[in-house]
Amino acid sequence: LFQPVRRNARGFDLGDIADLDCIEGARRPYHARRFEARPLLADGAAAEGAEGHDHPNPADPADIVGTVYDASPGDVERAIEAARPWPASPRERGNILERAAELYERDFGEILAIVAREAGKNLLDAVGELREAIDFLYYYARQSRQLEPEPRGRFACISPWNFPLAIFTGQIAGALAAGNAVLAKPAEQSPLTAAKGVALLHEAGVPVSALQFLPGDGARVGAALTADSRIDGVAFTGGTETAQAIHRSMHGNLDPGAPLIAETGGLNAMIIDSTALHEQAVRDVIASAFQSAGQRCSALRCLYVQEDVRDDFMRMLLGAMDELRLGNPWHLSTDVGPVIDAEAATAINDHVAAARRQGRLIKQVEAPESGHFVGPAVIEVDCIDDLEREVFGPVLHVAGYQAEDLDAVIDAINARGYGLTFGVHTRIEDRVQHIVDRVHAGNLYVNRNQIGAIVASQPFGGEGLSGTGPKAGGPDYVPRFARGTPQPAIG
Ligand code: SER
Repeated sequence: LFQPVRRNARGFDLGDIADLDCIEGARRPYHARRFEARPLLADGAAAEGAEGHDHPNPADPADIVGTVYDASPGDVERAIEAARPWPASPRERGNILERAAELYERDFGEILAIVAREAGKNLLDAVGELREAIDFLYYYARQSRQLEPEPRGRFACISPWNFPLAIFTGQIAGALAAGNAVLAKPAEQSPLTAAKGVALLHEAGVPVSALQFLPGDGARVGAALTADSRIDGVAFTGGTETAQAIHRSMHGNLDPGAPLIAETGGLNAMIIDSTALHEQAVRDVIASAFQSAGQRCSALRCLYVQEDVRDDFMRMLLGAMDELRLGNPWHLSTDVGPVIDAEAATAINDHVAAARRQGRLIKQVEAPESGHFVGPAVIEVDCIDDLEREVFGPVLHVAGYQAEDLDAVIDAINARGYGLTFGVHTRIEDRVQHIVDRVHAGNLYVNRNQIGAIVASQPFGGEGLSGTGPKAGGPDYVPRFARGTPQPAIG
């Protein structure tokens, strides 16, 4: 029988009042709901006697989004023992992952609400998050049927808070598509969103022995998983240093062939030359640096503007920043929500304060006082080497360059050893090709923003210190979770 293949999430038109009304109606019941996350184990005995802790909304400390029960060391042990590769055929696995995608669509109102309240995502970002999660499910479901991969065994999936549903779901769906047993450890900042995803995957038909859920912190739950010799592979998205530590701990305990699939940080740059269209470049810089409050691994950190146009361009950019609205992400007018927690806000504010002391802070947008907000900031630098590390927030560093120094600029960016995203705005075609050939980056964007890779169309992932590959949402991802694929190490 012919069946039409659904390729992507349904999505919404956020410029259409009917779609906005539909979203408002669907998420309203969850505006004050208290959610819960607790360990889900195949043997059923979850965290007996454990104490739950309140989980606050980063935009509004008075809003308690839910209660979280962390996995104990005993829970981790029981989960590892009870894990069983998914016995379904590749075809059945694909069908169940597609069914999960449909359930994610069904519960969109609840998902958009949790993502806003737990992770501080405004509607644009929350819809993008939901769509990406659904796209991963459809894409890896198809791969399960087409490739018929053979499982490795037990996979630990350790995911970040900045894509609490999309990356959480993508890792799990990749591992499940290959038939593995998954032990899912969400970021401690976003377990409530993750718990909703797990509930839908189970409802779709994934057995609990193939998908167990272990909320908790990295030092206890994550480290216990990655150091355990019964774990056959790890998918990790987060900081480069954590990925390196996981790599060391795995290879201290595991057969050296055991895979680490790591997607890590970046010092992402963009080049704007004198032929760039300023209006377009300003819009794309704002999106790349400040959308999601700069909390994307793809976000722009260091912008190079050709000296001939620098003053004009900066005038337009700083003017456009005055239009940004900061506030509670639940409100439709919010462009920039909070950063994830107090620790993140302090680290970013310290960086901005140091720049202010050095006379290098060009601008900072005012931020609301209550909640973990950081005003989008622009800091002047001489070159990318002035950035000690990735600052994971709405902070853009800007340098000028002379036309004849373009190659030296690219070489300096490459020399930092990362290689995630790179942007260029130019209207000279030969220059595009030249830059594409010279830059080391996983995802290179021309005359557009450099965030928001789309599953299947733009596989996403970096090289060097930015990750091991394979790219998420690309054809090589599911095979890496299966037997018979060579494993590169992180740079
Ligand atoms: N995949 C995301 C993006 O492209 C980054 O994590 O923005």
